[in-house]
Amino acid sequence: MRKPFFYDITLRDANQALAKPWNTDEKKIVFAQLLKLGVQGVEVGFPMASEMDFESSRELALLTAALADKGDKVAEVVSIAGLARAKKEDVQRAWDAVKDAPHPRIHTFLAMSPLSIENVLQIPPEKVRQTAIDAVSYARELVGDKGDVEFSPEHFGDSIENFDWVLENLQLIVKAGATTINLPNTVERYRPMILVEMVKKVVDALPKNITISVHNHNDLGMATASTVESYFVGATQMECALNGLGERSGNTNMYEVAVALHNCGVEMDLKLEEIYETSLLVSKWSNVPIYSKAPLIGLDVIAHRSGIHQDGAAKTKNMKKGAYRPIDYSLIGRSENDILEFTSQSGKTAVYEILNKNGYPVELEEAAELQPVLKEISEKEGTLPHSRILEIFREKCCNLNGRLVFQTIDVIPEENRFVFRFRKDGVSQEESISAEGPIEAALLLSRKIGLPVELNSYKQGVVSDLDKMWAGRALSEINLSANGKSVIGRGVSSDTLVANMRAVFGGINRLYRAGSGELGVAGVKS
Ligand code: KIV
Ligand code: ZN
Repeated sequence: MRKPFFYDITLRDANQALAKPWNTDEKKIVFAQLLKLGVQGVEVGFPMASEMDFESSRELALLTAALADKGDKVAEVVSIAGLARAKKEDVQRAWDAVKDAPHPRIHTFLAMSPLSIENVLQIPPEKVRQTAIDAVSYARELVGDKGDVEFSPEHFGDSIENFDWVLENLQLIVKAGATTINLPNTVERYRPMILVEMVKKVVDALPKNITISVHNHNDLGMATASTVESYFVGATQMECALNGLGERSGNTNMYEVAVALHNCGVEMDLKLEEIYETSLLVSKWSNVPIYSKAPLIGLDVIAHRSGIHQDGAAKTKNMKKGAYRPIDYSLIGRSENDILEFTSQSGKTAVYEILNKNGYPVELEEAAELQPVLKEISEKEGTLPHSRILEIFREKCCNLNGRLVFQTIDVIPEENRFVFRFRKDGVSQEESISAEGPIEAALLLSRKIGLPVELNSYKQGVVSDLDKMWAGRALSEINLSANGKSVIGRGVSSDTLVANMRAVFGGINRLYRAGSGELGVAGVKS
């Protein structure tokens, strides 16, 4: 299958719509990124529009030549184009600007829709035809063997009633020397399929050596769809802009087209892994923020908040194709894929994933216990940041608000004695236990107060540095059982002994539900 030819129009179409169009230095920054991205064509400006645009176009053409001389592979092959109205002086100006590039191109255009001919150009159709042919012939004369000529019938998408006439024009324009015919949907008004059928008719009618290009504006939000589908009916050149910038609601977004084609198995020379960095750079220099929900590049598009989506995302997180993501985001250079955020809509999977990611290896069952607690808090507070979830987890799960509330332990080493102060079912108590060590003492205490537990295993560590607030503190994990059920009790403290005691008390709370006298796993709610 033929590879798509990505022709970037950020430095021309997008630039002309910026509140502050770029000067040469600013264009150079974006241009360098375009080369990194590996586009096949760059429309560097509209040289007749201003002295600044002429200068910047010329500088970029010279820069491309210098880079090609040094062996830059993209610079060696990239087409550098200047836009020109179908007027001799515009065509000349465009050529003067880009002629030193290794592959210069003149892109000339003239409106051909009934609405524009009648109301904007206000000239007879025969004159439109001849003007376009003359401009292309002149451009062909100028570029000679070194460059090529692109022609656009502006408002092609509006040329429904006079389509046959436009097609004849294009055939004559090809004879006059254009080798790329670009079909702009200058204002998006109708269905993508109407446009795509028109594109297909042009593909079928023109000689096979002519490149058919599409240039879709995004007035109704369907430019990507129109561009992608046009590729599948034979258009090869995709005129797109970085971040979808451009007049009104912009031009076709290059990233969306590239990723959609990639997902459909189309090979291309674009370096997709440069996309995310490119989008940030373009947003910075254009002063146009990226909408948080913008496909692929928006900050929020990798976040999952609903329980069902979080569950699917977690179950497929290590797979190439995720249940709720269009791509593995490393494809476009993003470092994260599925972010789980906790709100009142979220489920136990989010709690499980968030706690595990932050250094607390809880079981799904424990996460399920905490979820309703977090949900209630989130109904009041909205999204709970990870730090808040950890805070609630430590408060509810690790030790405190269960049936047993650990307060202090005094160690009397010379007597091998441990004095516990705690509350049981709301009543403050003190017990003195003789034992070899504090954990043994805590287990003996559990028997003495009628909540016996057995120790299965014990692990001592530190809170991971992901948990910023508590990083470095002692983390005890004690596996306890009673009546055939086992749980993990956790305790955190800057004092290892206190962490151990909190872990034992937390485990007892998880095994014995307050009030019911039954064995239970809840214990998270006070
Ligand atoms: O949108 C348009 O029609 C254009 C042409 C100059 C190609 O930008
Ligand atoms: Zn345009």
